[in-house]
Amino acid sequence: MLHRTDTLDTLYIKTYGCQMNEYDSSRMADLMHEAYGLRLVGVPEDADVILMNTCSVREKAEEKVYSELGRYRLLKEQRPDMIIGVGGCVGQQEGERIQQRAPYVDMVFGPQTYHKLPEMVKRIRRERVRLTEIDMPEIEKFDHLPKAAHSGHSAFVTIMEGCDKFCTFCVVPYTRGPELSRPVVDVLRECREVLAGGAVELTLLGQNVNGFLGIGPDGEEWDFSMLLYAVAELDGLKRLRFTTSHPMEVNDGLITAFAELDILMPYLHLPVQSGSDRLLKAMHRGHDRAHYLHLIEQLREARPGLALSSDFIVGFPGETETDFGQTLDLVREVGFDSAFCFNYSPRPGTPAAKVADSVPKEVKDERLQALLAVTRELTKKSHQACIGRTETLLVERESRSEGDMQGRTPDFKIVHFKGKKRLTGQLLPICISEAYGQSLRGDLMLTEHG
Ligand code: SAM
Ligand code: SF4
Ligand code: F3S
Repeated sequence: MLHRTDTLDTLYIKTYGCQMNEYDSSRMADLMHEAYGLRLVGVPEDADVILMNTCSVREKAEEKVYSELGRYRLLKEQRPDMIIGVGGCVGQQEGERIQQRAPYVDMVFGPQTYHKLPEMVKRIRRERVRLTEIDMPEIEKFDHLPKAAHSGHSAFVTIMEGCDKFCTFCVVPYTRGPELSRPVVDVLRECREVLAGGAVELTLLGQNVNGFLGIGPDGEEWDFSMLLYAVAELDGLKRLRFTTSHPMEVNDGLITAFAELDILMPYLHLPVQSGSDRLLKAMHRGHDRAHYLHLIEQLREARPGLALSSDFIVGFPGETETDFGQTLDLVREVGFDSAFCFNYSPRPGTPAAKVADSVPKEVKDERLQALLAVTRELTKKSHQACIGRTETLLVERESRSEGDMQGRTPDFKIVHFKGKKRLTGQLLPICISEAYGQSLRGDLMLTEHG
């Protein structure tokens, strides 16, 4: 039976996209809880307010949104008082077009305007209007967000927003706006809040997190490595991570932080996109292959055993077999532990979308498969090398198979093991016994914990 109420009680949020969206969704939940006492539910059928937090980084993003909205339309027909909102990067890009195509959507907002949600909901209920809020305000949304609620043992904290890099294929600078760093004291305050709430691991977030340049407590600008040293000192913190970093923002301070800060986990996601200098230039990445390889060398010297992962785009306009071969070659040369590989898709409004999407779909697919074969082989190798090792695991949750739990090693590998739910949040030694494509299996060393 459908949930029915005159007051607003429940909230459902559907989240797509990157960790920044996950963070934003949890902050939207905090906001709506504070303003209306809304409690999160697991299915849209039970919700008085449905929010979609969308992503437009790759193809068919808009279509996915409209097809999901079609489901919500049926709910709204039965309960006209419910409120439907579309936020995130598709919201920002499409704006009012969403309500023209889906008039049952009450509000559209972007990644920089979700702090206005309580006010928008109030107006919608009072005036029965449809609202679009996608102006990028000067003021910071962070000033309007309530205290971060309990966010589990591993918590995200956004430290900077937006992107000024304008890679030619990417929508993010248009959807998230310009780069903006939070003041250091605000970041530290939020970190302390989530640590007090039980988190032991923090992941600092930003589209180019290492491009952080925020006002420090001394009134000077602090760069990312200065922030890392300050966060590393916080009481209760056991593990520190960050994502996503940009090669052009890796400086000596960050390399030294990897050498000096044990609490900084030995894993770095450093997207490179391509191994071809010609394409790196066309993509406007700001560096060449040699620069990237040099950074990797310095980072590995600073932190032996550092696990590396990256993002790759296959079939960028004009990509030849030679360009692609250089990408495969770079992947083998670096020996990434893992990789996220995507077919290029033209995104509306980006410079690359103005030139022909020249690599045929079959060729893109073929190249993607070839790249995946190489990266999977590397992942397998790095997993097999773990067998027999003892690792410290942060236990995250129950895994899908019954009686099993899962957690992460310092270098971000997933390990499954037999264990009880009450181990969640603990750091425990585990001996790795088996290696699979996506994960590892191990046995807890201290049986009394089991
Ligand atoms: N800021 C990060 C960086 O520069 O490395 C990445 C942000 S983006 C949200 C995540 C990944 O999506 C990119 O690294 C890129 O590989 C991929 N991506 C972005 N635009 C794309 C497009 N038009 N087609 C295919 N993949 C794309
Ligand atoms: Fe997109 Fe490039 Fe900015 Fe990353 S650095 S978000 S890929 S424009
Ligand atoms: Fe997607 Fe926006 Fe993140 S486009 S990847 S949700 S910044």
